[in-house]
Amino acid sequence: MTAHARASAFIPADLPEPGFDDLAHLPGMKPARIKMLRTINFLRDPLGMSQKMLEEHGRVVRRQDFGGWGVSLIGPEANELVLFDKDKIFSSSLGWNPVLENLFPHGLMLMDFDEHRIHRKALSVAFKAGPMKHYLGDLNTGIARGIAAWPGAPEFKFYPAIKALTLDLAAASFLGVPWGPDAKKINQAFVDMVLASVSPIRKPLPLTQMRRGMKGREYMSAFFGKEIPKRRGQKGDDIFTQICNTTDDDGVLLTDQAIIDHMNFLMMAAHDTTTSSISSVVHFLGSYPEWQEKIREQIIAVKAKTGGELTYETLADLDIIELVMKESIRLIPPVPSMPRRALKDFVFMNHHIPAGSHVGINPMITHRMADVWPDPERFDPLRFTPENSKGRHKYAWVPFGGGSHMCLGLHFAYMQIKSFFFHLLAENRIELSPNYKSEFNMSPIPKPKDGLPLRIVRL
Ligand code: HEM
Repeated sequence: MTAHARASAFIPADLPEPGFDDLAHLPGMKPARIKMLRTINFLRDPLGMSQKMLEEHGRVVRRQDFGGWGVSLIGPEANELVLFDKDKIFSSSLGWNPVLENLFPHGLMLMDFDEHRIHRKALSVAFKAGPMKHYLGDLNTGIARGIAAWPGAPEFKFYPAIKALTLDLAAASFLGVPWGPDAKKINQAFVDMVLASVSPIRKPLPLTQMRRGMKGREYMSAFFGKEIPKRRGQKGDDIFTQICNTTDDDGVLLTDQAIIDHMNFLMMAAHDTTTSSISSVVHFLGSYPEWQEKIREQIIAVKAKTGGELTYETLADLDIIELVMKESIRLIPPVPSMPRRALKDFVFMNHHIPAGSHVGINPMITHRMADVWPDPERFDPLRFTPENSKGRHKYAWVPFGGGSHMCLGLHFAYMQIKSFFFHLLAENRIELSPNYKSEFNMSPIPKPKDGLPLRIVRL
């Protein structure tokens, strides 16, 4: 099979879409009188509504979202069943397609089984230790420059600032050159694409978010498309050049269209998730400043060891920031839920779920289950020490997913976050206003409702 093949022997040509009647035997929602209203209510408070459903109906819940019927499976066992997918029951492509296909078609997460395995292997070259060391150099330089340009004592909104910075950083690691005069348009194109992917109106009608998102996609596709010929046959340490030259199992280069699709998807997968996680870490560090001190001690030790730099080899020394990050994205997971579609009938917790069902797992809720996470609302990074993690279900903490679709950029994300806090906290303190409490909008990708105003105080 070549990298162009799309069909999968596992996906039936004609898959039914079970409605309320087919799922009536399950606990859960009744049909809404006004479907759109239910969607709007959910988008307003996804955490509250999902928690209420768990309380009322248990871990298998029939639900009506975006107008269609599906089943939410909650808890570590559900996460394992769906993500590990040992019996090849669940299609990621058919799960994510309704959300992402218009904007990010043929992204890695929208592929299944053999096709997915081949493309994942081809893209993996860009995430091996050699290239990763190179990205770290670019990240260190870009982050140090970005932070130095932020205001010091006056309060500023952190979220837009970090969003702009992560986009700049992506220019170096993903593209190898600055975005140049296009930076603003690229940012807007991505914002539009991501917003469109969750907008309730799915057709690109005039003046809709979907129309703006599709325009964003056209813009980005043209941007990458005109660059591909310049990158073919060239050596480069950026992700784009590596993907332009990577091959499938048969030694065949990816097509131009496949490269464009992978680049669009990778940028989307990396940008908002990293922005969201850095924002939640900053929010918790501002609320629990004692953790800033602990992290700073490790930064000082790394600097003493290396002469001031964060090197690839010393990333592992910054394990406190890793604990803080894990706890932050437990409470505010950048991907709060993950959709699939069942290709066969299956049984979970004695409930029969028919083939074709839309099935969702929900890290946002699993990460707050009191039987897995005692006192779940308490911020406590020590939950993640090796000792305290002993005996916890392997799929209790799944911000990066699991199984064959586990986040390909996971190590990149850890590295970027460590580099960011290494530079930020070495000589600065994050300060929130007294009694300030930031609230995060939890869907589709969590972000602070008020932009997270704070001060970066130079030490
Ligand atoms: C904290 C930051 C991030 C989080 C929380 C995150 C989370 C996730 C999750 C949950 C999935 C799996 C979704 C599913 O199975 O339905 C995923 C997939 C993916 N992520 Fe990330 N991600 C992050 C950063 C990144 C970065 C920085 C990159 C690229 C540099 C990236 C690239 C990808 C790719 C390519 C996939 C698809 C993998 C596949 O289908 O095989 N992610 N991510």
